[in-house]
Amino acid sequence: MKQSMFLLVPMLCLLSNLQLQCGAVVRLLVPEVVHLEVDSFEDVTIALSAPLQENVLITFNVTYSSQEFPIIELPDLVILPCNSVTPVSFPVKGADVGQVTTHLRTNSSHLNRISHIRIRYMVVHSNVLTIISYIIGWIYFFSWAISFYPQVYANWKRKSVVGLSFDFLALNLTGHIAYGVFNICLFCVPYIKAQYIEIHPNGVNPVEANDVFFSIHATLIMSFTTWQCCVYERGMQRVSLPAAGMLISAWLFALITLIVTIAGQLMWLQYLYYFSYIKLAVTVVKYIPQVYLNYQRKSTSGWCIGNVLLDFSGGIFSLLQMLLQSYNNEEWMLIFGDITKFGLGLISMSFDIVFMVQHYCLYSESQKLNDYKLLNGEYSKEYTSQNGAK
Ligand SMILES: *[C@@H]1O[C@H](CO)[C@@H](O)[C@H](O)[C@H]1NC(C)=O
Ligand SMILES: *[C@@H]1O[C@H](CO)[C@@H](O)[C@H](O)[C@H]1NC(C)=O
Repeated sequence: MKQSMFLLVPMLCLLSNLQLQCGAVVRLLVPEVVHLEVDSFEDVTIALSAPLQENVLITFNVTYSSQEFPIIELPDLVILPCNSVTPVSFPVKGADVGQVTTHLRTNSSHLNRISHIRIRYMVVHSNVLTIISYIIGWIYFFSWAISFYPQVYANWKRKSVVGLSFDFLALNLTGHIAYGVFNICLFCVPYIKAQYIEIHPNGVNPVEANDVFFSIHATLIMSFTTWQCCVYERGMQRVSLPAAGMLISAWLFALITLIVTIAGQLMWLQYLYYFSYIKLAVTVVKYIPQVYLNYQRKSTSGWCIGNVLLDFSGGIFSLLQMLLQSYNNEEWMLIFGDITKFGLGLISMSFDIVFMVQHYCLYSESQKLNDYKLLNGEYSKEYTSQNGAK
C-alpha cells in the first residue's frame, strides 16, 4: 500500500470522521486483552454501545495461537439480546499457557461494517510472576530514566565537561531523537497505528506510554547536557570528524527516505522503522569514543560512573524481566524473536563493564595523579571553582 504525504492529512481526517460516525453507529465494546492464569476461569464482558432492534449473534475466530494445542476454552457463540445495552458475560477457561488472538464475527449488518474487532487472551503460569515482572519493569524504567542525572550533576559541580566525550553525547542525542520520533508516531498517530494493525493483524503495538515518556525525557536531558558543554570549561574537546560524518549520514538517510516516502514508494510505517534502525546503529557505536577518550587520558574523571552503574543495573533488571516474562508466558520469542533488543542490551552492558574496569581498576591510580596535577594548576579553572565553593 503506497501513500503520499498529500494523502496523509486527508486520511487522518477521514479516520477521525469515521470514528465520529461510529459514535452514531453501533459499536461493539470488548476488552482488548484478557489476562488469565492457567486452569482458572475469567468472565469476559462485551456490550453494544447502543441498543439494536435484533438479537446479535457473535462467534469467535481464532486467528493466532502460540501453541498447537488449545490454550483457551471459549463458548461457541454469544448472543446479545435485542433492545438492550446490558453487558453480556461469558466464561473463558485458561487451559494452557500461551497467547491467543480471536477476531469477533457478528451476523448483524449494523455491526459488520466494523472489521478487526479482536480480543487477545494471555494465559500465564502465575499472576504473582506477572506482578513481580511488572514491578521489575518499573525498577529498570526508573534506573534508566535517572541514569542521566549523575552526569548532569557532575558537570555542574565541576563547572567543566572535560573528560566527557562529545562524540558520545552527539551520537546519544541523535539516537534518542530518532527513537523518540519512532515511539511518538507509533503511539500517537492513528493512521500509523492502523497501518501497524493492518500489517500485523495479530500483533501488539510495540510502543507503550512509558517508552514515549522515556524518549522525550532522554532527549530533553541530553539537550541540557549539550547546553552544559557550551557554557562550561571544555578544553580542546569537540565532535570528531568520523562521528560528525556518521551523524550527517544518519540524518541524510532520514531525509532521503522521507522524500522516497512522500513520493509514495515507501510506507510510513516502514519509514518510521528506519528511525529505529538509526537508534540501533547509534547504540552499537556510541560508547566507543568515550572508552577511547578515557584510555587516552588514562582517567575516567569527567565521565560519571554513577551513570554507568545505573545503566548497568537497569540492564540487569530488563534482562531479568525478559526471562521471567518468557517463562511466565511460555513465549521465548521475547528473547529469541527480539534478538536485536536482547543483543543491544548485552552490548550496552558489556560497555558498562568496560567502564567499570577503567574506573575501578585501570585508572584508579592515575585518578589520584590527576588530582595532583590539578594542584599544580593543569586544570586551574576546575581547581579554583571546586575550591572556591568550599
Ligand atoms: C442473528 O442471530 C440471532 C440468533 O440466532 C437471530 O435472532 C437474529 O435474527 C440474527 N440476525 C440476523 C440479521 O440474521
Ligand atoms: C477465520 O480466520 C481465518 C484467517 O484469518 C480466515 O481465513 C477464515 O475465513 C475465518 N473464518 C471465519 C468463519 O470467519
